[in-house]
Amino acid sequence: MSLLFKNLLKRGKINYFRTFLRPSITHCKCLSVRKFSDSRKKFVSFDEIQAQRRDEARRSLVVQVNSESSFSELYGYCSQYASINGIHHYKNFAEEHFMLIEFSSEDCMKDVLRSCCSHQKEHEVMALPSPFLWFRARSGKKMKLTVPSDKSLVVKNGNEVINEDKLRAELMTCSSVSEQIQLLYDRTVLNDIGVRLRYMVARQLEVVFNSLYSNIVVLPFGSSVNGFGRIGCDLDLVLTNELTEEMLDPGKRLVYQEKKCSSGVRPWQRHLELVAELLELRVAGAARVQRILHARVPIVKCAHELAGLDCDLCYGNLSGVHMSCLLRALGALDARARPLALAVRRWAAAARLTAPTPGRCVTNFPLTLMVLFFLQQRPGGGAVLPPVSALISRAGKEDIRIAEDNVNCTFLRDMNKLPPECYGQSQADLGTLLLQFFEFYAQFDFSEKAISVIEGKPIRKPNSLPLYIVNPLETALNVSRNVSYEECERLKTEVRNAAWQLEAGLEGEKSDDWGLIGLLENKASRGLKRLLRVGNSHRLVSVKDLFNDNGESDQEEGFKSKLQRLTKKTDSDVENGVNEMKASLEKDSSKINKNKKVNFKNSQVASEVFRIRRNKMI
Ligand code: GTP
Ligand code: MG
Repeated sequence: MSLLFKNLLKRGKINYFRTFLRPSITHCKCLSVRKFSDSRKKFVSFDEIQAQRRDEARRSLVVQVNSESSFSELYGYCSQYASINGIHHYKNFAEEHFMLIEFSSEDCMKDVLRSCCSHQKEHEVMALPSPFLWFRARSGKKMKLTVPSDKSLVVKNGNEVINEDKLRAELMTCSSVSEQIQLLYDRTVLNDIGVRLRYMVARQLEVVFNSLYSNIVVLPFGSSVNGFGRIGCDLDLVLTNELTEEMLDPGKRLVYQEKKCSSGVRPWQRHLELVAELLELRVAGAARVQRILHARVPIVKCAHELAGLDCDLCYGNLSGVHMSCLLRALGALDARARPLALAVRRWAAAARLTAPTPGRCVTNFPLTLMVLFFLQQRPGGGAVLPPVSALISRAGKEDIRIAEDNVNCTFLRDMNKLPPECYGQSQADLGTLLLQFFEFYAQFDFSEKAISVIEGKPIRKPNSLPLYIVNPLETALNVSRNVSYEECERLKTEVRNAAWQLEAGLEGEKSDDWGLIGLLENKASRGLKRLLRVGNSHRLVSVKDLFNDNGESDQEEGFKSKLQRLTKKTDSDVENGVNEMKASLEKDSSKINKNKKVNFKNSQVASEVFRIRRNKMI
């Protein structure tokens, strides 16, 4: 148990904390702790889910429509040709409307393609094979299309990312930190339509590439499928050759002539060049293709405008898929693992510990391993998750997987075979776990110890890199080798701050940034708060008071002196604060959604203040 937590116990704060969290216990699904008498939860394996999703994608089409009210017409039109399981509505980045139609069988879907789909006249010669279509306006006489009264959209605007102000307002109404964490998870976790769309893009690429590579398979991996993704997360895809026993049958005497690539060590680099060309020329919706072919793992990046996704494509990296399988299995074992990991990922983004592009800071994948590792430490007295070694030692013949470069990815796939006493034994609720997570890493000996989810306990660091997180599938590798000394120091500082902030919030009345809200506020708004704080008190100057009655601010100098007067700060404090915020905003500006027009006030500082208020949370 961490020192901070021991202190809390000594000071009787744990009881207070429990009382504080209790109201949520009755309706927070994350708090159910598994008892031995409970009937066992049935786990569905990653392979089963993957097979089901791929099958779903083979039976589905995505159709661009005018609006969600096109449902009846589209349903009526398609159901004349095939039986429909359901229609899901979503919008892309450009606010265009789409409907993902799932048919009852692949034959049904093919019937629709044969019977009622055509190409655009001017592009006829270069016709594209694709499950992405659009719904042309009716020509000629009106046909009567009937839709059964019990049929409606399965989901409307299914991939909408919750508005930050709305999320904040909802978090304010929660009665405990646990409830906040669960709410954040429920509102932001990647949902069904998000997963369907990701498999649709994989299917589309498979269809296009199959015309050149007869046995290519395109598989999603990473946060799109490992259970730790949020709505809008990127889509990681791997292209791989599926070799069936039938294809390799030595008894068959007619053997295909192969086309060998003469480019030496990394032939797939050249194939990825072709893939990039195909994306540009032959994949409907693919745009802004970028080739990063000289990296250790060559990738092609693109945006998929019809699906509203950013994609990363690599070749042959099947260990990434097995890693997703491992993460998914661990996350499924206990209902608290995913909400906790999503809260930590979000806090880290707000604290600018993680960045969308890899550099010198930690990324979401190693951060997720840190959460899983913490949950293996018996927080609250019992193990929430087992060490990965428990899955490796229980693996059977059916679990053997050897990925590229002979990486051994063998571990138990069927979690139903894992004894229940190996996991889910802690009584701690989500709020307690989050606090303990911060305390655990606030005290962790990063200089001497490495994080190993295989062992489930800290091990000696094999080298002096600032942060060492053992890759669970390739134990000789450190998944955080890129993290610099400065970033590791920042991580240590931020976990300490977060523990302090969360603990301090348990005392007194709930402020407007209580619990998780304060942790999700991005740094820029923290800077703003410091600037607006009256002296050393907790009171903040209202932004409204800084402006004239007509909503306009004074000139910059006037604004600063007004701010200084209201906050009782020195000239240089205000000057430093404004400069700090300006620098922070410059860094942030690339993250601001280009589509959202911000209503700027006339002075620069005022507009910055306004922008921070609008973008209070990441
Ligand atoms: P977000 O995209 O940030 O939502 O998370 P993610 O888990 O998808 O991470 P990312 O896109 O960076 O990486 C995709 C997947 O690649 C991860 O989930 C891992 O399975 C794998 N991966 C990422 N980084 C490493 C690494 O350093 N080593 C290994 N072996 N695999 C990695
Ligand atoms: Mg990813």
